[in-house]
Amino acid sequence: MSEAADKQPEAEAPRPERRPRVFSGIQPSGTLHLGNYLGAVRNWVDMQETHDCVYCAVDLHAITVRQVRAELRRNTIDLVNLFLASGVDPERSIVFVQSHVPAHAELMWILNTITYMGELRRMTQYKDKTAEAEGESIAVGLFDYPVLMAADILLYRADAVPVGEDQKQHVELTRDVAERFNNAFGKAFVVPEPIIRAGGARVMSLDDPTKKMSKSAGSENSYVAVMDPPDVIRRKIKRAVTDSGAEVRGGPDKPALTNLLDIYGALAGEPVADIERRYEGKGYADFKADLGEVVVAALTPIQARIKELEADKAYTVDVLKTGADRAEAIASRTLAKVRERVGLVPRP
Ligand code: TRP
Repeated sequence: MSEAADKQPEAEAPRPERRPRVFSGIQPSGTLHLGNYLGAVRNWVDMQETHDCVYCAVDLHAITVRQVRAELRRNTIDLVNLFLASGVDPERSIVFVQSHVPAHAELMWILNTITYMGELRRMTQYKDKTAEAEGESIAVGLFDYPVLMAADILLYRADAVPVGEDQKQHVELTRDVAERFNNAFGKAFVVPEPIIRAGGARVMSLDDPTKKMSKSAGSENSYVAVMDPPDVIRRKIKRAVTDSGAEVRGGPDKPALTNLLDIYGALAGEPVADIERRYEGKGYADFKADLGEVVVAALTPIQARIKELEADKAYTVDVLKTGADRAEAIASRTLAKVRERVGLVPRP
C-alpha cells in the first residue's frame, strides 16, 4: 500500500455510519416492578450498544388516567431513576420527560387531522380500557392516546420502536399515519419498525401466569417491586403459584413454571433448558428458593444505585435538563419540516 493511500486527509476519513435510532417510552403511572425492568428497561440498556437511543418517561400518556399530583411527580422521577440505575447512560442516550418537549403535543394535533376515528376505535387497548365505561364519560385523551404515541415516535425519526406485544398495534398505526402524511404532504417522517421483545422477556404475574405482571392487576403478591427488600422478594417468589405436577419444567401446559424459568433465565443469563436440566429430580421448593436469590442478586445493585440517585436529586434534574434540550433539538427540526409541508406560515 502506498503512503499516500494510507494517509487520508482527515476531512475525507470515512464517517462512522449513522446508527439506527430507537425511541421508546414508559408511563410513570405506578410502582415499578420486575416486569418493567426485565420486559423493557433491560433491553433498552442493551440497545445502546447498537442504536442511538431516545428514552422517554411519557407523563402525558399517564394522565389519560386520573393521577394524584404528588404521586405522578414522584413516579416520573422514580422511573427516570430506574432507567439510570439500570444502565441507561445519559451521555450516550437521550433521557427525558415527554411533557418537557411541547413538540409532542403539537405534532399530535397535526396528526389528529389525518388520523381516522375508525382507526382509533379499532385499537384493542382502547376497546379493553373502555369496555366497562359509559360512552359519555370516556376521555378524548384515552381515544387519542395512540396519536400522541405516533407523535413521540415520528418526531425523532426513529427507525425502530422496542415495545411489548400489546403496543404493536399502536406502532402499526404510527406507520400508517406516517405513510399517509408522507404521501399527502411530501416526505417528513421515517416509517418505523416495531421491535417486539422475544419470548422470555414478557414477565407474567406471580399469582396468575395468564396475565402480564402489573401493579394494578393483582394483589401485592402478583409482582416483585423494584424496591422490594430481599426478604419480601424471597417471600413473593416462594408464594408464586405453580402448575400441577412436581417437575421443574416449562411448556405450553405449564404457564407458571414457564414464567418462573423465564425470569430465572433472563436474570441469570442462562438458557432455560440448562436450568431445567439442573433441577431434574428436584422440586419446586428448591427451585423457588434459588430463584428468590437470583432476583435478589439482580435487584440489589439497582436498588443501591436508586438510593444514591435519590440522595442526589440534582443529578437526575440535570440529566433531564440536558435530555430535554437534546430531544427538543431533534423534535423541533422535524416539526419545522412538518409545518412547512402542511403550509403553516413560519413564525417571523
Ligand atoms: N403506550 C406505551 C405503553 O403503554 C408507552 C409509550 C408511549 C411508548 N409513547 C411511546 C412506547 C412511544 C414506545 C414508543 O407501553
